[in-house]
Amino acid sequence: MRLPRLSSSAVTVLLLAQTCLLLFLLSRPGPSSPAGGGARVHVLVLSSWRSGSSFVGQLFSQHPDVFYLMEPAWHVWAALPRGSAPALHMAVRDLVRSVFLCDMDVFDAYLPWRRNLSDLFQWAVSRALCSPPACSAFSRDAISSEAVCKPLCARRPFALAQEACRSYSHVVLKEVRFFNLQVLYPLLMDPLLNLHIVHLVRDPRAVLRSREQTAKALARDNGIVLGTNGTWVEADPRLRVVGEVCRSHVRIADAALSKPPPFLRGRYLLVRFEDLARNPLAEIRTLYAFTGLSLSPQLEAWILNITHGVGPGARREAFKTTSRDALNVSQAWRHALPFSKIRRVQELCSGALRLLRYRPVFSEDEQRDLTLDLVLPRGPSSFKWASSTDAQPRP
Ligand SMILES: *[C@@H]1O[C@H](CO)[C@@H](O)[C@H](O)[C@H]1NC(C)=O
Ligand SMILES: *[C@@H]1O[C@H](CO)[C@@H](O)[C@H](O)[C@H]1NC(C)=O
Ligand SMILES: *[C@@H]1O[C@H](CO)[C@@H](O)[C@H](O)[C@H]1NC(C)=O
Ligand SMILES: *[C@@H]1O[C@H](CO)[C@@H](O)[C@H](O)[C@H]1NC(C)=O
Repeated sequence: MRLPRLSSSAVTVLLLAQTCLLLFLLSRPGPSSPAGGGARVHVLVLSSWRSGSSFVGQLFSQHPDVFYLMEPAWHVWAALPRGSAPALHMAVRDLVRSVFLCDMDVFDAYLPWRRNLSDLFQWAVSRALCSPPACSAFSRDAISSEAVCKPLCARRPFALAQEACRSYSHVVLKEVRFFNLQVLYPLLMDPLLNLHIVHLVRDPRAVLRSREQTAKALARDNGIVLGTNGTWVEADPRLRVVGEVCRSHVRIADAALSKPPPFLRGRYLLVRFEDLARNPLAEIRTLYAFTGLSLSPQLEAWILNITHGVGPGARREAFKTTSRDALNVSQAWRHALPFSKIRRVQELCSGALRLLRYRPVFSEDEQRDLTLDLVLPRGPSSFKWASSTDAQPRP
C-alpha cells in the first residue's frame, strides 16, 4: 500500500488541526463539571453556632440549581472528639474540598461501610437529597420539607449523593468549624474550585442567649472549641466559647477586609443576620448575585412567606413561626439576660462589636430600651471592596 505524499504545508495544517483538537479536548469540562458545561460554583457559608446559618443554608438548599449539605464536617468532629478545633482544621478542610468536588468517598473515613443517605448529618434538610436523582419525594424546583422527605428517602443508597451532586451547577456547604480564614486559602487558590465565601455573623449577645437555650446540644462541640481532650462542656460560666467564637469572627473578617490577599477579591461577602432579618429580599438578592444564582418568582414567594412578608426596612424578626411580638423575639436577649452577663460578653467580644458594628449597651436601662437600635449601619466605605459582587476572573 502506498501512503499519499504530503507537502510540508499540508503537514503543518494537519499538525495545527491536531493541536486545536487537543486544546479543545483539554479545555472541555471534565467529568466533574455539571451538565451543560461551565465551571461549577462552590459556596461556603462560614458561620458559627446559633447565628442563623440554618436559615441561610435553606435559602441556598431550596434553590433548584444548588446541591446543599449542612455541616458535612460534623462527621469529622464526631469521629475525633479529642481533637481541638485547630488540630482538626486540616481534616475539615480536606473533607469540605472533597465534597465540593462531589467526591463522597471521603466519607469512607467517617461513615459505616454499608450506608445510605440517612447516615449523612442533617441530610433531609437538603432539597437536593430529596429530589431526583437522589430521591423522588420532591421535584427539583419544588420547595422541599424535611418531615416529608425523611421517611421517603432515608434508605436511598448513599452513592446517589455523589450522582446528585454532579448534576448541579452550584455546591453549597455550611460550616461552623473553621476558626480562621487562612486555612481556606489553599481552597481559594485551588484550580479545581471556584470558591465563594459567605461569612455570616450575628450579634454575639443574641448568640449567647440562643446558645443558653440549646446548651446540651452544644456540649461536645464546646469541648472541641476549648480543646479539652474530649471532655464535654455544657456549662460555660466564663463564656469562654462565646469569646473564642467572637475572636474567630474578628480574625476572619479582619483577614478579608484589611489587607486581603489578591485571590480573595470578589470571593468574600460579609453578611449580618440582623440585616437579613430586617430586609430579607434585598439581602438575599445580594447573596444570590454574589454566587451567580437568580431569584425566581417562586423562590421569592417562598421567602416572603417564611419571613412573614416583612417588607424592606421593617424592624421585625423574620423566620419565626410564632405569633409572639416579632421585635421582642429578635431582641429577646435584651430582657432575658442579666446586665452583668451582657457586660461580660461585650468585654469578651468588644473587637467583634466594633468591627461588625453592633452598639454596646452601657446600662441596664439602655439594655431594656427597645427603641434604642443596637444594629449600626455598616459603613459602605469600609466594606465596599470585599463585599463587591463584581464577577472576577478565576485566579
Ligand atoms: C439505612 O437507613 C435506615 C434508617 O433509615 C437504617 O435503619 C439502616 O441501618 C441504614 N443502612 C442500611 C444499609 O440500610
Ligand atoms: C487525652 O485523653 C486520653 C484518654 O483519656 C489520655 O490517654 C491522653 O493522655 C489525654 N491527652 C492529653 C494531652 O491530655
Ligand atoms: C406559606 O406557608 C404556609 C405555612 O407553612 C403554607 O401552608 C403555604 O402553602 C405557603 N404558601 C406559599 C405560597 O408557599
Ligand atoms: C416583650 O418584652 C417585655 C419586656 O421585656 C416582656 O415583659 C413582654 O412579655 C414581651 N412581650 C411578648 C409578647 O413577648
